[in-house]
Amino acid sequence: MKTLVLYGSRYGRTEAYAKHIAQALGCRALPVGKAKRKDMAEADVVIFGGGVYAGSIAGWRKAARLLRRAKDKRIVLFVCGLADPAKEKTQREARMLFEKKLPPEQKGTLPVFCLRGGIQYTKLGLKHRAMMAMLIAYLKKKRDKSEEDKQLLSSYGGEVEFTDLSSARPVIEEAERLSKDRNTPSLS
Ligand SMILES: Cc1cc2nc3c(=O)[nH]c(=O)nc-3n(C[C@H](O)[C@H](O)[C@H](O)COP(=O)(O)O)c2cc1C
Repeated sequence: MKTLVLYGSRYGRTEAYAKHIAQALGCRALPVGKAKRKDMAEADVVIFGGGVYAGSIAGWRKAARLLRRAKDKRIVLFVCGLADPAKEKTQREARMLFEKKLPPEQKGTLPVFCLRGGIQYTKLGLKHRAMMAMLIAYLKKKRDKSEEDKQLLSSYGGEVEFTDLSSARPVIEEAERLSKDRNTPSLS
């Protein structure tokens, strides 16, 4: 079985995870914007990972379109964000963001993993700087600040780095399991 890793990444952390996963699996990692139908046709297992940006996942719109056309694939999904992957809320929101663009029959069926990225404020584009400034203004006024809120406020303007390539192990293992298991139905 052949595996393909697709990713949507603005600042490189999701890309680093995607390349690490592809290297471990001995397959290719492609930015989703460069993926062609031929790439999809050749793959049995498709892993897609995208950075989380205020209610959307980078590259997921295109990836979901490609996956809807290629219905016979076994799929593994992951997000890369600042939110703590150990929290049930982080996992629930990641699944919800993916499922917004999935057909009803695939809802609740696909493996979704949450990996942690980072942020370097001086590297952000103008639009993202403005979005973060609005979020920070909101958090400053918020009454019951969570630990994550406090962390975001204290690191604002600087840099936070949680990227840990070894945390991608479960994604690799799930893709291996799907590619070996002849009984796993494809998601047609
Ligand atoms: C404008 C903006 C919005 C973001 N929104 C979220 C968010 O809603 N949830 C989250 O967990 N991380 C959020 N992040 C953090 C990114 O997901 C994090 O920087 C991630 O590493 C980006 O992946 P990339 O480096 O592959 O682009 C946001 C970052 C920016 C700049």
